[in-house]
Amino acid sequence: MKTINVAIDGPAGAGKSSIAKAVSAELGYIYVDTGALYRAVALFVTENNIPDEDIAESLGKAEVSLKFIGGAQRVFLGDRDVSDLIRTPEISMAASRTSSIPAVRAYLFETQQKIARENNVIMDGRDIGTVVLPNADVKIFLTASAEERAMRRYKELSEKPGCPCYEEILSDIIERDHNDMNRKTAPLKQAEDAVLVDTTGMNLEESSAVIKKIILEKTNGGEA
Ligand code: DC
Repeated sequence: MKTINVAIDGPAGAGKSSIAKAVSAELGYIYVDTGALYRAVALFVTENNIPDEDIAESLGKAEVSLKFIGGAQRVFLGDRDVSDLIRTPEISMAASRTSSIPAVRAYLFETQQKIARENNVIMDGRDIGTVVLPNADVKIFLTASAEERAMRRYKELSEKPGCPCYEEILSDIIERDHNDMNRKTAPLKQAEDAVLVDTTGMNLEESSAVIKKIILEKTNGGEA
């Protein structure tokens, strides 16, 4: 049976994951956060102090996998659930760096394609519409201004102890945007056939409604 594949790409903090999570729950699709795969590789590399030049040959030992527990994605290194450990500013920056290594992208490619072959998915990332799922039924490029994305992240992190200040988050976002858009392999860019959605000034409910409408229109109400 043909599965429905929705690709959502865009820069860090554009709201991809919150929106994709909400809309996939409404449509009964699996939500796949591919950034978690890159973060898991970055955690593996960081914990084992692997220099960049040795990353390619070490990937065979990383054992990165995704499991869907009660519909929610969890990411594993071997049998260790690292879904929470990967959400630190240090790992964000390490993931931005290590994801530019072609061997890392090749290593995670089949994991992503297999999930999309077997399930109706909303998959978010940077190169889903351009590289991983070039034949996706729906492609969306989601963006928002760097300042708004930094403010959203600041509000999220400010509930936790020792959070970085707004200026630090903004400069991290600008640096990661630059890395993601300028790397040689699979840079962040809008696919030619992607619908551009700018969520600056929109809240989660408004953005989700826009995305859901686009998906339903492009898939004839959710029928493959
Ligand atoms: O979406 P995120 O912030 O969790 O992603 C972490 C890093 O992984 C991000 O800097 C870029 C990289 N990434 C990627 O290169 N390709 C993807 N499909 C998803 C994420």
